[in-house]
Amino acid sequence: MADASKAVQNDVSSDDSASLSEERILVLDFGSQYAQLIARRVREQNVFCEIIRHDLDADAIARKKPAGIILSGGPSSVYAEGAPKCDPALFKLGIPVLGICYGMQLACNSLGSQVGHCEAREYGRAALKISQPTGLLAGLPAEMDVWMSHGDQVNQVSEDFVSLAATGTCPFAAVQHQTLPVFGLQFHPEVTHTPLGATILHNFLYTVCGCEGRWHLADFAKLTIERLREEIGDHRVICGLSGGVDSAVTAALLYKAIGSQLSCILVDNGLLRKDEQAAVLSEFTNHFKADLHIVDAEDRFLETLAGITEPQEKRKRIGYLFIDCFKEEATKISGAKYLAQGTLYPDVIESGAAPDGPAATIKLHHNVGGLPEQLGFELVEPLRDLFKDEVRKLGIELGLPEQLVWRHPFPGPGLAVRCLGEVTRDKLEVLREADHIVVSEIKAAGLYRQTSQAFVVLLPVQSVGVMGDARTYENAVAIRSVNTDDFMTADWSHLPYDLLARMSNRIINEVRGVNRVCYDISSKPPATIEWE
Ligand code: XMP
Repeated sequence: MADASKAVQNDVSSDDSASLSEERILVLDFGSQYAQLIARRVREQNVFCEIIRHDLDADAIARKKPAGIILSGGPSSVYAEGAPKCDPALFKLGIPVLGICYGMQLACNSLGSQVGHCEAREYGRAALKISQPTGLLAGLPAEMDVWMSHGDQVNQVSEDFVSLAATGTCPFAAVQHQTLPVFGLQFHPEVTHTPLGATILHNFLYTVCGCEGRWHLADFAKLTIERLREEIGDHRVICGLSGGVDSAVTAALLYKAIGSQLSCILVDNGLLRKDEQAAVLSEFTNHFKADLHIVDAEDRFLETLAGITEPQEKRKRIGYLFIDCFKEEATKISGAKYLAQGTLYPDVIESGAAPDGPAATIKLHHNVGGLPEQLGFELVEPLRDLFKDEVRKLGIELGLPEQLVWRHPFPGPGLAVRCLGEVTRDKLEVLREADHIVVSEIKAAGLYRQTSQAFVVLLPVQSVGVMGDARTYENAVAIRSVNTDDFMTADWSHLPYDLLARMSNRIINEVRGVNRVCYDISSKPPATIEWE
């Protein structure tokens, strides 16, 4: 059996990253919810950035030849037992280091400064007064808003440090070491609540670290395509299509690299949205001349879901049957050696699969592992270095249509997790129609790109209504629309009332069997985006 861990993309990823990023920034992750956001903010400034374990030793870090190092925030106190630490030799490498929040406390503490509890935990907006508007803080006004979120802070700096800026409660809100290239920020420059945070990161990258800004997606695409072509040779690659942007961009890269050696499989599990199979088919045939296999498996999926109401059991059954259907089709394709997946960077780091990625495994992602081993394929993951917004930009770069590139995400188990309780053909039909109305109305209002995900959930609830003169006893549906950057946290979309009213009217008038529409106003956490 082929070794799935010997993935083509691991080669592509590390070599490409190396050549694209002789200039790279490393983020040491101390458990911050913002580590990925820091990496994205750096890449937005055209510098490649990678998140690594906080405890990697200084020699291993130096071998990666970073232009600079960022120490992320984190929930611990530097004095707490078991608090995550970095190798102190890191500060003596001569490589610029920027500590953010906990990262700052750690850097300052390692270099002789004192950290202690603040009088009051500081959380939220604060006014930063800048005393040294040069270097890291060049080009900034004397006073600006910053976002604080900390219980500890640097209370006393060693004489090696100078304060660059302060807030009312935090005398060392920004500091610089006098002889080492070490800087600290008590606030978070990476969040949008620090409106001029990008200028600070820009100063760190370009002035302090001397970066030139060599990370461009067009170069990434070109190099990845060349490398895929070289690595795959004349073998065949199978790529699963879901209708989503990740699998489409994966297929587009592969198609540019190996053309007709690419075979794509779309498993229609009968849980897709209205007209989705046809949309994927037309997008596909307009853009690729590759071999496409559509597996019509609606009956099999409905059969395996019959009588099942427990959400996890539904997901499991869908997952297993998907693998069976995919496997059956894949084994019909002769000579295939590789399986392509649209795994993204957050999936890789969250699953703990990145070679020097953060130590903590937060969740095992559905995309990583499993299928390729079972099928005896080697894995190709050309997007495993990219964030979602980069994948979208790459899709545009590769000539994919806007409506595909900006499509809202759709879960693998499809409408089954939006049809609460047992899934039946009739319920799916109701859901499809209602969902279509909601998405069309959001598009018509010009709000599709401003919302991150919008859909309908069919509730296992019937309620009394009145239509004409008659009493009705029919289904209730919930509209869910969320805004989010990363899908880990989300706010409900504050959609205009007249839009909500149009959706509700149309659903009740046009979808048979629905007499009540609710709007879900829960944020994540504590709710999740999907209902099951
Ligand atoms: P939750 O409901 O966990 O969803 O807040 C976060 C994002 O993930 C999507 N999602 C899934 N995607 N397979 C997928 O491919 C799944 O099993 C799955 N479950 C949730 C969800 O639609 C949202 O975008």
